[in-house]
Amino acid sequence: MNIDWIELSNFRNIEQAQLTPCQTLNVIYGKNGQGKTNLLEAIWLLTGAKSFRGSKDAELIRRGQPFSTIRAQVQTRDLCHNIQISIQPAGSPKPGRTAKLSGAEQGKASNLAGIFTAVVFEPNHLSLVKGSPEGRRKFVDAALCQLYPGYLSEYRRYLQILTQKNALLKHYHRTPGAAEMLEVFDEQMAAAGEKITHRRRQYVERIAPMAVQTYADISSGAEQLELQYIASFSEKGLLEELKKSRKEDLRCGFCTVGPHREDVAIRLNGQPARTDASQGQQRSAVLSLKLAEAAMAEQVSGEHPVMLLDDVLSELDDGRQAYLLSRMQGRQVFVSGCDDSIFRKTDGKLLHMQGGVLTEL
Ligand SMILES: Nc1ncnc2c1ncn2[C@@H]1O[C@H](COP(=O)(O)OP(=O)(O)OP(=O)(O)O)[C@@H](O)[C@H]1O
Ligand SMILES: [Mg+2]
Repeated sequence: MNIDWIELSNFRNIEQAQLTPCQTLNVIYGKNGQGKTNLLEAIWLLTGAKSFRGSKDAELIRRGQPFSTIRAQVQTRDLCHNIQISIQPAGSPKPGRTAKLSGAEQGKASNLAGIFTAVVFEPNHLSLVKGSPEGRRKFVDAALCQLYPGYLSEYRRYLQILTQKNALLKHYHRTPGAAEMLEVFDEQMAAAGEKITHRRRQYVERIAPMAVQTYADISSGAEQLELQYIASFSEKGLLEELKKSRKEDLRCGFCTVGPHREDVAIRLNGQPARTDASQGQQRSAVLSLKLAEAAMAEQVSGEHPVMLLDDVLSELDDGRQAYLLSRMQGRQVFVSGCDDSIFRKTDGKLLHMQGGVLTEL
């Protein structure tokens, strides 16, 4: 997977930018607050997913401008696609992120899932290990959305039932026919939820050996990483668990079991990495997970995803930097950082970002 060229217009602080990246390493350097992450974010949006920063669509449009456009030509092994993402504010004729593929309207940008794949590393990803289960579920869900175009709608279906069920639980004693409605919701939720859990568990089982190997390489075999998907129900199924938790759900006023309460356990030498691992060990665990995500994307699609490394090299020691860059070989990579010193040692393309203006050196 490669980007041949990309053009941005009115994207965050970037009024206009054109870039013809090289097929290997592209280095974007510049001072803080100049637009480096913005550029990587625009590249990421070509996947059809929402911003990796969790920003709202309207925040992506350059202040004072009516809309923003990202256009790119991407190359897979045997196909060439022209992707256009347009971002418009609420209330406009086509609000949010919409897409065109080789000139044909695709509707919502999420319909592009699977066309262009990318993996992003950014400093906030430390929360993948340190943070709440929600971040780990998001990691798995985001990967699944890119790999399996149907996953997003399956997931939305589950959330829709969950929202309805939670509303019912909240007003249970004031709702006529509540018990019967709850039965129906539970059945729907079990069917939709089991699919989600199954996909997620399968994903974690497939990336685990790759992440474990990477961690062993980084730590020279001194430490052992373990990954395990923690489902909220046993072989008996989710419906059984939902019935068991009914009392508790009514007491809490929301649904306490299901994929929305699950987690990925990350352990180092048998201990939970969230509480026991050092900062450096947590970083290595994140790196292992992200590299496994990229390897998995390659296995499923047969294409190397484009790698976006936002400001992560500066956090790693020399050995880990070299290891990470060595694992990027054969892929198109975009790396951002505040200084060009480490990058001058590589033979990548150097780009400077200042005040939203991108210049090739
Ligand atoms: N919608 C927008 N319109 C105009 N400017 C914006 C918009 N959104 C963000 N910005 C500006 O973009 C700049 C931040 O850009 P970005 O996050 O890409 O910086 P960076 O080069 O990655 O910096 P750092 O090295 O600190 O990570 C900020 O100055 C911010 O004000
Ligand atoms: Mg940045």
